[in-house]
Amino acid sequence: MDKLLITGGGELQGNVRVSGAKNAALPILAATLLADGPSQISNVPHLHDVTTMIALLGSLGAGVTVDESMTIEIDASELTSQRAPYELVKTMRASFLVLGPLLARFGAAEVSLPGGCAIGARPVDQHLKGFAAMGAQIDVKDGYVFARSDGRLKGARVVMDMVTVTGTENVLMAAVLAEGRSTIENAAREPEVTDLCEYLIAMGARIEGVGSDTLIIDGVERLTGHPYTVMPDRVECGTYLVAAAITGGRVKCTHARPNTMSAVLDKLRAAGAEIVEADDSISLDMYGARPKAVDIRTAPYPGFPTDMQAQFVALNSIAEGASRVTETIFENRFMHVQELNRLGADIQIDGNTAVIHGVDRLAAAPVMATDLRASFSLVLAALVAEGKTLIDRIYHIDRGYECIEEKLAGIGGEVQRVSGR
Ligand code: UD1
Repeated sequence: MDKLLITGGGELQGNVRVSGAKNAALPILAATLLADGPSQISNVPHLHDVTTMIALLGSLGAGVTVDESMTIEIDASELTSQRAPYELVKTMRASFLVLGPLLARFGAAEVSLPGGCAIGARPVDQHLKGFAAMGAQIDVKDGYVFARSDGRLKGARVVMDMVTVTGTENVLMAAVLAEGRSTIENAAREPEVTDLCEYLIAMGARIEGVGSDTLIIDGVERLTGHPYTVMPDRVECGTYLVAAAITGGRVKCTHARPNTMSAVLDKLRAAGAEIVEADDSISLDMYGARPKAVDIRTAPYPGFPTDMQAQFVALNSIAEGASRVTETIFENRFMHVQELNRLGADIQIDGNTAVIHGVDRLAAAPVMATDLRASFSLVLAALVAEGKTLIDRIYHIDRGYECIEEKLAGIGGEVQRVSGR
């Protein structure tokens, strides 16, 4: 199992090219199942989760070709299977996103219940509620969801009990081919949902209210494959900005989309960073200063993203002052805290809040990555810790961060991948 060996110290400085967004690429790749004819999807990040989704589409019988620039052409005109097996779904919760498209286009789907990060119960009841409202018959048996519909799905009003990103996406993808009008209320407003809407519209879908919490969908009989470029990854971008901030450094993230990142940029400013936003880049400069502690409360978009929570816990751990970071989306998303404390941080958990007293210095220790975003918080802490930190189980990081060693090396981080047993 690979590990990362990180030598702490030194301000990070330089440019980072932001990759395409994993959380937009995955639903968009699933949505290619809705179309007749090929779609060419570009700016797709080269990540394990993307490889898993491509393998899943291939196993369903879709034609998949990948060129050298990671533009992926997918043709789902003729599928041979409507079954997404446990082996492919267990490693990645987003595999569940094929259920809506398969059901809408072929009237049947068998999809294993999902796995993914161990950050909470993460049920799929809202997805299933939406499909049932559209007339699908849903049975859950032996760890699989069996969904069927006699003829086309019927447009329906779906009110989500809570804001769910993949739940909104799955129901949306089913609704675009349903007969008549659907509305999704309390829909997720995350930019990745908007990116999916734009791809669906490019293929011929009729969706109103894009970017709002009410999506109105008039079902069409067919969609036609279309080229699409995936949006930049706001979480990856935010993470590299925190890397600069935690080391007192200066980084410019290029190929970014600043207008999707206001909550994170506001908190970085509050932590003492100077931020300059351009059309497609963000520059951050700490002028060598130690960050100031900032309180955080995660919330659905446009609130502060839960996927940036762990990184800000790391930032606060060496900041000047005390802070409270409250997690409202997932019930078990503080697994990084114990590991950060091993590096010398002073963090207590009080219910769903991490109470952090900033310390002057962190010191290297062996630590273990536990989930995707939590893993990067350990990388961030290691970049400022004195000595060499060995991070185990970094397969979690590889699920979501493209070329991490190259990108960190490009801004002066000393990071080495060590192959272990
Ligand atoms: C997506 C993101 C993930 C991010 C999360 C929240 C992808 C591939 N992943 O995950 O990176 O951390 O949004 O922004 O886009 N819930 C239910 N029932 C459901 C669905 C969700 O109770 O049917 C609950 C979940 O347990 C959780 C909350 O709703 O507490 C939000 O989850 P959700 O938005 O669905 O997260 P994901 O879409 O899985």
